[in-house]
Amino acid sequence: MAGGLELTEDTTITVRGGVHRTGAADGSGAAELLAGYLRPVTGLPLAVTPPGAAGGGSSIVFTTEGADTRLGDEGYELRIGSGGAEVVAGGSAGFGWAVQTIRQILPAEVEGDRVTAGPWHLPAVTIRDVPRFPWRGTMLDVARHFFAPADVERVIDLAALYKLNRFHLHLTDDQGWRLEIRGHPELTTIGATTSVGGGPGGYFTREQYADVVSYAARRGIVVVPEIDMPGHTEAALASIPWLNGDGQAPPVATDPVVLTSSLAVDREDTARFVADVLAEVAEITPGPYIHIGGDESLGTDPAAYRRFVERAAAVVRAHGKRPVGWDEIATAEVGPDTIVQHWIDVENARSAASRGMQIVMSPAGRAYLDMKYDHSTPVGTTWAGYVDTRTAYGWDPAAQVPGLPPSVVVGLEAPLWTETVTTLEHIEAMMLPRLPAYAELGWSRATGRSWEGFRHRLAHHGRRWSAGGRAFTSDPAIPWG
Ligand code: ACM
Repeated sequence: MAGGLELTEDTTITVRGGVHRTGAADGSGAAELLAGYLRPVTGLPLAVTPPGAAGGGSSIVFTTEGADTRLGDEGYELRIGSGGAEVVAGGSAGFGWAVQTIRQILPAEVEGDRVTAGPWHLPAVTIRDVPRFPWRGTMLDVARHFFAPADVERVIDLAALYKLNRFHLHLTDDQGWRLEIRGHPELTTIGATTSVGGGPGGYFTREQYADVVSYAARRGIVVVPEIDMPGHTEAALASIPWLNGDGQAPPVATDPVVLTSSLAVDREDTARFVADVLAEVAEITPGPYIHIGGDESLGTDPAAYRRFVERAAAVVRAHGKRPVGWDEIATAEVGPDTIVQHWIDVENARSAASRGMQIVMSPAGRAYLDMKYDHSTPVGTTWAGYVDTRTAYGWDPAAQVPGLPPSVVVGLEAPLWTETVTTLEHIEAMMLPRLPAYAELGWSRATGRSWEGFRHRLAHHGRRWSAGGRAFTSDPAIPWG
């Protein structure tokens, strides 16, 4: 085909240039990522070579040479012509997003997992691409139902395909504690034994968690672990009797809704427990954030709640991490470096902003992936309304809360709560096609995009998801092709 690039037996992937700025890496990680995506499905060798080592074939070159500083950490330029392809970026994040763009412009069969005859044609394009927001996330609740590392990694790879750069793992809740804590093994020997509905539970060992975190990191995604407290803690209370004010452990919850659990917040041994847990989480989390939850602590005295979250935020900070919490934590003085995740109360968002905190937007009626698309959606809930793809797409994170200075909004995140979500197919059907809507709100400027344009572009992705064996919801507003 004229103008584009055909991947052949002789095509190589070349890395040029060194470290461009402090902390920014060259394109070697992205080169390996691209080769890892393409070799199994193309059957081509796609050797990753240093400059000059290539034979006579075309090359996909990753280079920092000439990178424009305005590309920032995540921007990139991609030029594809018949002679080859060139990716220019200032660091590993930008190179990684260019890999996802290459994945998106190859034939849909690239999403498959077995060797497929080509042709593997990359169209001639020139792309300059820089994200609007630095926080573009999704969240998976592995507490209400547990999902094994292989499933979680498949979801992370889907997030990567759409250039989301934060993966929030909701690791603890009333119905399960899903991360091994060496200092408190009961949290998982007892707290991970079941789930919503009373079925089997599960948890990540420290090693499994570390593997998931590095799988995400290879795709440019920072895992944000959440230990939700002081409410949403029935599984911890069931595991360790002295966390309860009266020393009496309840059973691990199996009902979907528990609104009264609370750690005994003013006790010193509770404070030591929180410090132990957060120290272990910080130790195995290379990313800069730890989420301390803080939502719906309806069983906690409000003044004691504030003292508790202030102290928990300080512990996070003492480990060199930035605290993140649901919007209720803005009722406390958690510090201006705290990131507040707006989900329900605009006053909490305004209060946080007025004290210099940054806000991630997850308004339930727009961004909650557990909301049904419409009455026919087989799983999910409706308490924040139906969220069809158009509703998911039709808002602006910077303008969502009237009166908020746009500069405090660092981005958006689409959480998937799993009270009703029990399988990978459910996860994918709730995420697709809405996840790309959130990704576009996070990446693209508000001007120059439209629902009409989006729904037609989105239509082409159905074949990609099918080729990748992924479930999705056939929202009738999308002209699936
Ligand atoms: C939440 O949905 N309780 C943050």
